[in-house]
Amino acid sequence: MQTTTVTMDCLHFIDGQFVPSLNGTTFDNINPATEEKLGIVAEGGAPEVDLAVKAARRALSGPWKTMTANDRITILRRIGDLIIQRNDELARLESLDTGKPSWLSGSIDIPRSAYNFHFFSDYIRTITTEATQMDNVALNYAIRVPVGVVGLINPWNLPLLLLTWKLAPALAAGNTVVIKPAELTPMTATVLAEICRDAGLPNGVLNVVHGFGPDSAGAALVEHPDVNAISFTGETTTGKVIMASAAKTLKRLSYELGGKNPNVIFADSNLDEVIETTMKSSFINQGEVCLCGSRIYVERSAYEDFINKFVAKTKELIVGDPFDPKTKVGSLISQEHYERVTSYISLALEEGGTIESGGKRPEGLNKGYFLEPTIITGLTRDCRVVKEEIFGPVVTVIPFDTEEEVLEQVNDTHYGLSASVWTNDLRRAHRVAAEIEAGIVWVNTWFLRDLRTPFGGMKQSGIGREGGLHSFEFYSELKNICIKL
Ligand code: NAI
Ligand code: MG
Repeated sequence: MQTTTVTMDCLHFIDGQFVPSLNGTTFDNINPATEEKLGIVAEGGAPEVDLAVKAARRALSGPWKTMTANDRITILRRIGDLIIQRNDELARLESLDTGKPSWLSGSIDIPRSAYNFHFFSDYIRTITTEATQMDNVALNYAIRVPVGVVGLINPWNLPLLLLTWKLAPALAAGNTVVIKPAELTPMTATVLAEICRDAGLPNGVLNVVHGFGPDSAGAALVEHPDVNAISFTGETTTGKVIMASAAKTLKRLSYELGGKNPNVIFADSNLDEVIETTMKSSFINQGEVCLCGSRIYVERSAYEDFINKFVAKTKELIVGDPFDPKTKVGSLISQEHYERVTSYISLALEEGGTIESGGKRPEGLNKGYFLEPTIITGLTRDCRVVKEEIFGPVVTVIPFDTEEEVLEQVNDTHYGLSASVWTNDLRRAHRVAAEIEAGIVWVNTWFLRDLRTPFGGMKQSGIGREGGLHSFEFYSELKNICIKL
């Protein structure tokens, strides 16, 4: 295992300056793959959030407001360019913070973070609004204005990718922001602040306050009366707490929450393709992706063949050092999360399940939160392991007999984020895709994303949609102006 040679301390970024907390409080940042300390992080709370919100509010009426769209586009493009320039450094920090393979950070997380800026800066030019004439009496036209100060609250699994997915459209629409990164992964957000400053973003437009969620920086941001909107990605239970607290100041909310996504495999699909993609949808990023397909349903006639191949391939996956290019599965994010994920493996045994592969710490890895990719069979729809989000490299596989039966099982959940359907029957593909209660349904693929398309969850997996115009809808207000003729 590569030991940690680089340490980095993370300060808040408020009004264009890196600053410690007012009372100097900090917390440790841990490398989950080695359990070593990576550095210290300023621990913010209500006072730091207040300073950041005040800076963001001032910046709303500064040069950020008066600059031309061209200038704004140039700055956003430059942020994307600088992320690309610093790809290797950012990928390294992201993997140190999360334990994910560095090839994954370097080839997906960081390039896509840059692309978020390039994509949304291009999108600015496509935004149009509406005009409505009322006989000869009046002309109405709508203009888009920023919502104001927006709070962005992020999870630890895809730190820079998910942060920039919110930040780029929030800035493109002219808002100012206060970011509360996940406490477990503060490093790339800190570097991003530096990048934004270097790209020429005016002071106060972007602010970062580190800290925890409940009773800390996260809660203070949600409660702050001068924050107009909160965009939150994280757990469904946290979403409920935030909604209750945001009600006091009636904030606009965008939610991307948890999931327990089905992967439905019909016997007529191409099994080799299914296996190849299912390896990713099950275990990429240690299964710590909201879109991972953790409930696998296989038509009975293909079940045995599927299990044999899936188990064999899974046993080949190399788990270990995030900085070894051969590693496919890195470490889970934290001790606490490791305990939570492994508790579901014990529960699966209590519920009558069979562990077909994995289920334990890989041999020889005594430090770090490593877990073998785990396949569980023999459970039924009422088991907690089948119903609850685990957010780790753990999947259940259940056979089914008919389309009706599988649809009923698939939809028997409070979640509704995404789903995959595998079949070569065109009509069935359309039928099943239409019936699944999820915001995103992939047919014969997974995680194929066009950033113009609506992204988000149904039921308790989210509120609202992100992507293309949908992001601009959230990050701007439509104001109607009526002129009497
Ligand atoms: P979490 O909900 O524990 O924390 C997310 C963020 O919210 C952190 O920055 C945390 O400090 C903050 N927070 C926690 N309590 C808060 C409070 N009371 N007020 C304000 N802020 C608070 O989620 P976690 O464990 O970081 O991330 C994993 C979860 O995120 C999973 O449930 C996963 O499904 C979900 N997720 C959803 C995605 C989607 O697009 N739907 C994408 C990625 C993750
Ligand atoms: Mg960390």
